[in-house]
Amino acid sequence: TIALVTTIAELQALIREKLREQDAAGNPQSLGLVPTMGALHHGHATLARRAVAENSVVVSSVFVNPLQFGDAQDLARYPRTTEADLALLDEAGVDIMFAPSVEEMYPHGEPSIRVTAGKMGEILEGASRPGHFDGALTVVAKLLHVALPQFSLDDSAGRPAYRAYFGQKDAQQLALVQRMVADLNFPIQIIPVPIVRDEDGLATSSRNRFLSEEERTAALVLSRALRLLESRATAHEPLDITSVEGLIRSAPGVELDYLEVVDPQTLAPRAENCQDTPFTGVALALVAAKVGAVRLIDNMPLG
Ligand code: PAJ
Repeated sequence: TIALVTTIAELQALIREKLREQDAAGNPQSLGLVPTMGALHHGHATLARRAVAENSVVVSSVFVNPLQFGDAQDLARYPRTTEADLALLDEAGVDIMFAPSVEEMYPHGEPSIRVTAGKMGEILEGASRPGHFDGALTVVAKLLHVALPQFSLDDSAGRPAYRAYFGQKDAQQLALVQRMVADLNFPIQIIPVPIVRDEDGLATSSRNRFLSEEERTAALVLSRALRLLESRATAHEPLDITSVEGLIRSAPGVELDYLEVVDPQTLAPRAENCQDTPFTGVALALVAAKVGAVRLIDNMPLG
């Protein structure tokens, strides 16, 4: 069964112990890390199960990171469901849930040294949420270091590995984490996991619980719009983004923030083949909108 730890020292001792057990049993030593902010749903469970399938020891962190919230109200109302989170991770086969306090993660208050996401963090989501990706990357960097396994390379029965799992739901966050790991030589493999959707097509999110029934119905226009772009791209038709924007704007109570077709790695907007000329190559379509008081994001690979 899963162990719950709240301090970095306990976490590191337990990781060492669990890896040693695996090694003694003749199993390959590998550590999978699944960072989350809790309020876990089946999207998170998919990441956790994937990590469990691919690693001998799996840690999931549950930490609502104040550094990535722009406004105090949003931070205060972020759902906290520790007991249910522990049960969901246990069910997925996770070994350790790491749920530190804010003081444990930021003992000196706001850190004076941070990771900056650069230009890639200022576009799309970053344009509406200044500082958000600096805060997210800073805590991800800390978590990757905190959980860094010390493998006994001499005895290990297989090739040791350190992997962290991120959902494609947050495509910009994933691209930025991959970029941080590459730019700063973090000794870890980043594993992307495809978006998990509810049965009606809405991308699963901790924020969906704040939608009324009508708002939820209206929100379905986002995944419908992305599927429309996907089918046009697959058929090498012109994407005609303007018409798709119109479709989204016509849904009641939906306030479109952006609909963009970008390069999947750099997130730079694709200048060509988005409006009138036939679509070629690959791209990523990203959408963000406010539905009532809830900000939703979704995306889909094209081509
Ligand atoms: P959180 O929103 O809790 O998401 C944790 C991880 O679950 C992220 O990698 C996210 O992309 C993934 N995820 C959430 N919903 C998903 C879905 N429907 N399908 C697939 N993956 C999904 O993202 C964060 O927390 C934080 O920014 C964090 C990385 C933990 C740093 O604080």
